[in-house]
Amino acid sequence: MKYTVEQIMSQAFPVMPVLAVERVEDAIPLAQALRDGGLTVLEVTLRTANAMAVIEAMKTVAGVIVGAGTVTRAEQLHELLRIGADFAISPGATPGLLAEGKRVNLAFLPAIATVSEMMQGLELGYQHFKFFPAAAAGGTAALKSFSGPFPNVQFCPTGGISVRNFKDYLALDNVTCVGGSWLVPADALAEQDWPRIEALARAACFLV
Ligand code: 3PG
Repeated sequence: MKYTVEQIMSQAFPVMPVLAVERVEDAIPLAQALRDGGLTVLEVTLRTANAMAVIEAMKTVAGVIVGAGTVTRAEQLHELLRIGADFAISPGATPGLLAEGKRVNLAFLPAIATVSEMMQGLELGYQHFKFFPAAAAGGTAALKSFSGPFPNVQFCPTGGISVRNFKDYLALDNVTCVGGSWLVPADALAEQDWPRIEALARAACFLV
């Protein structure tokens, strides 16, 4: 099934876990733990050598939507399409990525940190953006300011968001979901502590 960015962001509520997975063997139990904790949209960053294989493995798990993060080059969109990823997310918005993201048949979420970057995306028909790095680029105050001139733009803020502040972001009208790496601490992944990861996911869902 093909999803739109809007559907993916809605389904990701409240949190899209941002993952960096080294071992392919961890892919399936990790996806199952997050899903069982209530989080079903998973962003696998292309920061590890095995990221593409991790996405392919997670795609065999029922009930999850799996895409890539840290997409920085247009050709990665085609590779993701080829392996059956559900979406792609970039930490930025280059002209090349924005153009290819409209051509390719894959849900693509570019990131902005400023109004001018957002306007470049709007000119090309984008209405949904990751706001990155959210905390460093102004946090909830920046998002509130964006909503005045751009009331129809929806965001997935990511970067510096935690269990302590994610509800502040979700309370904003222009935030559909947030992204964060806190659901999967590096030591929990290294120790393959799936119950702890499931509990962190469940706690995030319980809080909203
Ligand atoms: C990222 O791409 O690193 C994400 O924005 C995650 O940020 P976080 O580690 O601050 O949650």
